[in-house]
Amino acid sequence: MKIFIDTANLDMIREIDSWGILDGVTTNPSLIAKEGTDTRTRVNEIAKIVDVPISAEAMSSASEDMIKEGRELSSIHPNVNVKLPMGVESLKATKVLSGEGIDINMTLIFSAQQALLAAKAGARYVSPFVGRLDDIGMYGSDVMRQITDIFCNYGYDTEVIAASIRGPMHVLEAASAGCDIATVPYSVLQQMVSHPKTDEGIRNFIRDYEKSKK
Ligand code: G3P
Repeated sequence: MKIFIDTANLDMIREIDSWGILDGVTTNPSLIAKEGTDTRTRVNEIAKIVDVPISAEAMSSASEDMIKEGRELSSIHPNVNVKLPMGVESLKATKVLSGEGIDINMTLIFSAQQALLAAKAGARYVSPFVGRLDDIGMYGSDVMRQITDIFCNYGYDTEVIAASIRGPMHVLEAASAGCDIATVPYSVLQQMVSHPKTDEGIRNFIRDYEKSKK
């Protein structure tokens, strides 16, 4: 499974890239705003640091405007894919932009039916929001599994990005459901590394090594 980082923070991107595990970066307007910058500037900066797919979200509402904005965003760098929020206008824009070879990441996906429509319109990626589904008392993992089943049944090559990941269990559920990608916050990546028994084991080995030197 590919691992993307869900952040617009340059230090976090550098750090996770240095771990040798980074396959992509996803941003959204909230993550960009947190960094006190704008999408074009920050995506440009990210593209200079890492050579991986980078999602940049279009904010227009009408399909004609989304198409223009999508072209502008994709012109920032060849690695940029355009995030569009699920809806009729986005489906129309996806048809046009994907026809031009621009990769679309259909975001804010909350059902397998939405994912099916996005794939049919030509989206390169769909992003089901697992954490926000859990927030409203639904099983995000069920939706991820339904999407991967449908894409497998019909041979869609649209990749599934498990998004709105809140903890290591969501990553496990995404991997078990066969998602192609999980986009993971920095803090969750750190949690994934740690295990109390690993820490205990290291402490014990150091203690025994020190004793054996005497
Ligand atoms: O990739 C989408 C993600 O950033 C949303 O996460 O935690 O705001 O639901 P969250």
